Amino acid sequence: MNLHVVIGHGPAGAATARLLADKGRAVRVVTRSGGQAEPGIEHVALDAADPGRLTAAVRDAAAIHLCAAPPYHRWTRDWPPLAAAVSQAAEATGAVLVLLGNLYGYGPVQGEMTETLPLAATGPKGRVRARIWEQALALHEKGRIRAVEVRASDFFGPGVTDGGHLASRVVPRLLRGKPVSVLGDPDAPHSWTYVPDVARTLAEVAEQEQAWGRAWHVPTLPPLSVREMTGRLAAQAGVPPVPVRRLPSVALRAGAVFSPMLRELREVQYQFDRPFVVDSGAYRAAFAAEATPLDRQLEATVDWWRGRPAGG
Ligand SMILES: NC(=O)c1ccc[n+]([C@@H]2O[C@H](COP(=O)([O-])OP(=O)(O)OC[C@H]3O[C@@H](n4cnc5c(N)ncnc54)[C@H](OP(=O)(O)O)[C@@H]3O)[C@@H](O)[C@H]2O)c1
Repeated sequence: MNLHVVIGHGPAGAATARLLADKGRAVRVVTRSGGQAEPGIEHVALDAADPGRLTAAVRDAAAIHLCAAPPYHRWTRDWPPLAAAVSQAAEATGAVLVLLGNLYGYGPVQGEMTETLPLAATGPKGRVRARIWEQALALHEKGRIRAVEVRASDFFGPGVTDGGHLASRVVPRLLRGKPVSVLGDPDAPHSWTYVPDVARTLAEVAEQEQAWGRAWHVPTLPPLSVREMTGRLAAQAGVPPVPVRRLPSVALRAGAVFSPMLRELREVQYQFDRPFVVDSGAYRAAFAAEATPLDRQLEATVDWWRGRPAGG
């Protein structure tokens, strides 16, 4: 019973699968497109929104890690059947359900976000994420499944590309000495969650019964603005700092005409216009786990981008 099924092979799923395999667990990764087998990791191609096929793929698993997400502009339509199928598979097999979530469910709040805040989001994407956990928790409380949610702020680190704000639109440009343009206020304090810390937390809660039945924030360092992070990345890379500009709202409006992603980001614009800060003290205290120090995060991130073709 040491099989872990990881659904999704984006930055978080890939890091979690690799960490679990390195810890000696048997790992099966589920995606629609499938993938090449890697040492210690089996890849299976199937749509996790199909409850019958998913249940067959997780039979004998100790845990299911839900690290997949539908395309951003299809969340309201595609998340409910995916989440329902995963809960159904957890119930049918008894595997612990580990959900990877974000901070959208809280909606705009004043001050730091803790796990005790209500899931008060009113926007469609915030509501859909809140419902996933509310439904899993209701099943947990009835004793039908064992569930836990791990919530992260915006991802940072190796492997994060188009899905990150401090990633493909920023790091390759600053390595080439080019100015960067970002969404929102570049000086607003912002929490960045390091993807290897996400993986470590998912792997840990799956096997710690005292973690189940609640949500936890991944250990995350104190906030730094986009401008501060960009400066720290440049210093780490040994390149001069580059200008950091706010994307003009007229450019965002024009871009939104063609890009569903930009249109959808309007709901969460508040996350970038003002402080967006997560408090991860509960998890750090309960599990004696700390976020990776910033210097190591920066070094691994710069090295990863430099290792890509043409430096990213
Ligand atoms: N990006 C961030 O900054 C951030 C921050 C906090 C939390 N999160 C959350 O963390 C989770 C993981 O995000 P991520 O960026 O690592 O991954 P991602 O890129 O959003 O995940 C896409 C992965 O999910 C798979 N997938 C999608 N639908 C599927 C389905 N129906 N069945 C099977 N596989 C499916 C995709 O493969 P196929 O297309 O081949 O199926 C792909 O491997 C998401 O819930 C995300 O919202 C992200």
